[in-house]
Amino acid sequence: MECKCQTEMIPKFADAAIDISPLLPVLEAYSGVQGSLITVLQKAQELYGYLPADLLAYIARRLGVAPAKVMGVVSFYTQFRTKPAGKHLILICQGTACHVNGSAEIERAVREYLGVEEGEISKDGLFSYNNVACLGCCSLSPVMMIGDKTYGALTGKSVAKILKEIEKEEAE
Ligand code: FES
Repeated sequence: MECKCQTEMIPKFADAAIDISPLLPVLEAYSGVQGSLITVLQKAQELYGYLPADLLAYIARRLGVAPAKVMGVVSFYTQFRTKPAGKHLILICQGTACHVNGSAEIERAVREYLGVEEGEISKDGLFSYNNVACLGCCSLSPVMMIGDKTYGALTGKSVAKILKEIEKEEAE
């Protein structure tokens, strides 16, 4: 009789695009290692682009960490996403300095340019945006980040220009 232990251990995820096999060695390596949760979550997000609930539950089980703790970490750190994102994720700072200097206008410009609400993916799959707390460069406010690039002293016009530039690069 064929052994099914391995396949039975691996659940089906709601997002059929999630192939757990590249994450298995990471889970193996960090299982039971204190303080490794963030590293594993980062690796998982790098692989899948986001961290859906069923994947988080699986990670919790494999690492022997309480699901509530995993959820707590994911919701505490803005780097983690529980929904799929566009290829370029825009983080719009809504911290105090940015708020005072017009972050609402920046969000409006992004929303209008892309035709999406927060957390939605643009039709071409290129962009999505999220509002986040202080990004740590208040002197440049209002600020947004796209990938690891920071854009400061933004206006509605400069936002449109930046997004257009990225679209152009993608089309090349
Ligand atoms: S408040 Fe926006 S970077 Fe600090």
